[in-house]
Amino acid sequence: MISRDEALELFKSQNPEENLLNHVLEAEAVMRGLAEKLGRDVELWGVVGLLHDLDFPFTKDTPEKHGLESMPLLEGKLPEEALHAIRAHNGEMTGTAPESDLDWALRCAESVTGLVAANAMVRPTKMTGMKPKSLKKKMKDKSFAAKVNRETIRECEKLNLELGEFFQVAIDAITPIADKVGLA
Ligand SMILES: [Fe+2]
Repeated sequence: MISRDEALELFKSQNPEENLLNHVLEAEAVMRGLAEKLGRDVELWGVVGLLHDLDFPFTKDTPEKHGLESMPLLEGKLPEEALHAIRAHNGEMTGTAPESDLDWALRCAESVTGLVAANAMVRPTKMTGMKPKSLKKKMKDKSFAAKVNRETIRECEKLNLELGEFFQVAIDAITPIADKVGLA
């Protein structure tokens, strides 16, 4: 399997915008946090988070291809379950339905990053001291970070995690990298 450093180099080789790089670093952190919480493969889940948007720099105008165009770039570098998760994170468009825990984890993890980051930006202390309760409030306020898909975040329930527990995992994962992703 591709190493974490190789994965980051591969991602950067696609010339991602800074926002996208921050997003995948956050997704990686949440995926690692979920794997730890659930006793799964932390390295694999982390690399899936890091690489899930590999093709985004050249599929942003063709959303039906997002996820699929990453496949040739990742062939032989990740196990099939990881490739499936990457296709399923855009399953509504790619036709790959989420099935495994890894699939569900990637979907909710990459979605929650948007809510956490938007919440950090409106807090004077950014990530420091953020609580699940404030994210729950923002979940309900549909005009807040309106593009963040609340339904996909709720898919954490497929992992037998309540929303509050999942938010805690996300906060604990992103807080230590806040300075690297512009949230400090
Ligand atoms: Fe993403």
